[in-house]
Amino acid sequence: MANDASAVFDTLSPAFSNGSLTDPFTPPADSSLWRKNFLLGAATASYQIEGAVNEDGRLPSIWDTFSATPGNVLAGDTGAVACDHYHRWEADVEMLASLGLEGYRLSIAWPRVMGAAGLPNRKGLDFYKRLLSRLKEKGITTSVTLYHWDLPQHLEDRGGWLNRDTAYRFADYADLMSRELAGTVDAWATLNEPWCSAYLGYGNGHHAPGLANDRFATQAMHHLLLAHGLAIPVLRANDPASQKGIVANIGRGTPNSDSAADQRAAHLFEVQHNAWILDPLLKGAYPQDLFELWPGTEPLVLDGDMQTISAPLDFLGINYYFRTNVASDGAHGFRDVPLEGVERTQMGWEVYPDGLRDLLTGFKRTYHNLPPIYITENGMASDDKVIDGHVDDTQRISFLKRHLAAVDQAIKAGVDIRGYFLWSLMDNFEWAFGYERRFGVVHIDYSTQKRTVKRSAELVAKFLKERKARV
Ligand code: FCB
Repeated sequence: MANDASAVFDTLSPAFSNGSLTDPFTPPADSSLWRKNFLLGAATASYQIEGAVNEDGRLPSIWDTFSATPGNVLAGDTGAVACDHYHRWEADVEMLASLGLEGYRLSIAWPRVMGAAGLPNRKGLDFYKRLLSRLKEKGITTSVTLYHWDLPQHLEDRGGWLNRDTAYRFADYADLMSRELAGTVDAWATLNEPWCSAYLGYGNGHHAPGLANDRFATQAMHHLLLAHGLAIPVLRANDPASQKGIVANIGRGTPNSDSAADQRAAHLFEVQHNAWILDPLLKGAYPQDLFELWPGTEPLVLDGDMQTISAPLDFLGINYYFRTNVASDGAHGFRDVPLEGVERTQMGWEVYPDGLRDLLTGFKRTYHNLPPIYITENGMASDDKVIDGHVDDTQRISFLKRHLAAVDQAIKAGVDIRGYFLWSLMDNFEWAFGYERRFGVVHIDYSTQKRTVKRSAELVAKFLKERKARV
């Protein structure tokens, strides 16, 4: 049954099939989303969906270790089975294709494809070869992220991202992948959200490997960015036809009042979240105020590193979820002041589409060399339930519609945005929150692995079908 896509599509509502579905989603006629070359797709990540953690020679990752430690992940969940995508990938590709999604952003599990001595693991590599070739056969644009947080544990045992050598090991990994997979990848992203790897992994310990030290966070960040910069020319040499970039999470910080102190706090929030990554990539320097704010946390930077890090990009991937309202902390930093009475998601994150538009237009003003942008993640978690075979995820439909409208506004304001990948194709292992938080447009019943297309996915599919039919 795993490969029978019709099993999935039985769950589409009669209203969808006979065209009478009420449609609170389709963008207005003047929206840039109607342009056929605006890529609309969905995203996932290896550890969050694959499962099969001990199969075909896959080595342990830091997330296997971290999630096996009681207290780290809600309900003791791990990615050992997840969505069992490693075994069900064919049906999942059928599902993507049947929804008409034009792009798929996936990540490769480094410990699945490379042994500890740096040699390829053929069985693991074959999985991605089959998957990517099938996606290409289906006409789906492939966007591959090399590192979405599942560092091989053997590298963590030698210091992980605190060890400069990990950056060179990453370049070797990028070399192997781009030699093996060239021709099946439309866009390579080196890293997903280095800020989260550094701050959540090494700064506050909420994510693997679970270390908590400010100085560690900045050093890890520098090594992650260095890894990215070392990998870009390697990818270019091995796979010249593809696009090369990186995926950054960005955050909107708004001031709690008009006071100069709160305005400064909001500025510093955005320096810490956005400029910290975009300045080195696009200006070749870390932002000045960063280390004024946290003196003594400067990473060790060697001659030439900043030049390596600022290698030209073909695209910038942007992940956006929410805004943070901040006030001055009375010293020179900021503190969160959660707003009352605003719309929030299952994560408690505020729904704030204007933040996406404002950040994008702001980046265009700040960075004269801003590359073309893909929104590589945007979406929300809700406590979705299957009722009579359907999932009516009303808040998500409205969330996606409003964020796509924000993207349209940014495009109209002159930002070069080429596509949007919703997070996520399916419910999955949401890191420290385990399986409780559901971000998918497809529902997963983890006891049976049944996939049920949510109403949001039906409406995206309906829009894409209409767009395709237009002359
Ligand atoms: C991002 C991650 C992604 C997912 C979403 C909700 O930070 O890149 O894997 O967990 O958040």
